[in-house]
Amino acid sequence: MCYTRGRDGPFLFGDHMDDPSAKSAELLERIAAAPSPAALDEIRIELLGRNGMITLAMRELRQVAPEERRALGARLNALKDQITDAIADAGERLRLAAVSNRLAGERADVTLPVRAGETGRIHPISQTIDEIIAIFGEMGFAVAEGPHIEDDFHNFTALNIPPEHPARQEHDTFYLPERPDGSRLVLRTHTSPVQIRTMMRRSPPLRIIVPGRTFRCDHDATHSPMFHQVEGLVIDRTTHMGHLKGCLIEFCRAFFDVDDLPVRFRPSYFPFTEPSAEVDIGCSRAGGELKIGPGGDWLEILGSGMVHPKVLQNCGVDPAEYQGFAFGMGIERVAMLKYGIPDMRPMYESDLRWLRHYGFVPLDIPSPVRGALVGPAS
Ligand code: PHE
Repeated sequence: MCYTRGRDGPFLFGDHMDDPSAKSAELLERIAAAPSPAALDEIRIELLGRNGMITLAMRELRQVAPEERRALGARLNALKDQITDAIADAGERLRLAAVSNRLAGERADVTLPVRAGETGRIHPISQTIDEIIAIFGEMGFAVAEGPHIEDDFHNFTALNIPPEHPARQEHDTFYLPERPDGSRLVLRTHTSPVQIRTMMRRSPPLRIIVPGRTFRCDHDATHSPMFHQVEGLVIDRTTHMGHLKGCLIEFCRAFFDVDDLPVRFRPSYFPFTEPSAEVDIGCSRAGGELKIGPGGDWLEILGSGMVHPKVLQNCGVDPAEYQGFAFGMGIERVAMLKYGIPDMRPMYESDLRWLRHYGFVPLDIPSPVRGALVGPAS
């Protein structure tokens, strides 16, 4: 018989009934019945912790008479293994029970109606820009951009609009305050300065489109002081008027999705192109309703022309070697025509009711076009 200390005071084992191995059945039962991971942990500490019953009993083995120690040690070791396994099993059982409890509690009722989510809408201007990029992208055009604040050279002079040229007055320019040298920066009145920047920075052949914001001091149902244009520029050795026409006819038909859309080129004037042409598309106004397509009436949508040799020269491109065409178009205008939007002003008023009506649902598929039309358009 020997003496040892338990957690709650001394206890005896040996041939006495306090031998923990004698209590194995009871201990294993307690483990198996642990109602929660916390309760199981308490039992583990009580038995196997630093002052646990088994740990202490092992430590006290030293004091047992050598002839008993062997058998007792083997029994204690076997008991410790049993307890360790039983605790692991009980832990796993409790974990699984917790998972199935959670699953039962969180079961989704798939028959419930979906909650109406707040899906954002693509603004018609962004949508239209994406569509234009997609069409010209297929024709091999790259997208270029430039600053909104321009200097006089890029916005006017390099485009063959010298000081005192009447075209300057027509542009209703927003000027920034005069700088110390007397010059004034401007909010760009068109996207054409990006033609200049591109030709000065890169050498031909060039094929770019430039969607972006432009500014003119003008405000009514079809004009806004801030609006958007898309510019196009193609420069190569043999690019001619036929390319200009083919490219723009193709674009108009693809954009308005009308295969037999009549497209008309009307002689016009821009300082930076020669010859210049305004581009009209066919429509009908029968019954007071505007419909894009064959119909005897015309709508102007684009300015275009062959890049003026002086503009090429201003950008360091040799007009004897290179030529090309340019075009410019108001994005609001074509968006309003395509999607039957009667007034330009609400486009910038951030009115969600307007956006829900005229906006586009985002598509999940990767596409250069971000949205699909929802709801009736004209
Ligand atoms: N920049 C012109 C405008 O704002 C449009 C245009 C661009 C015309 C390129 C011809 C060539 O009206």
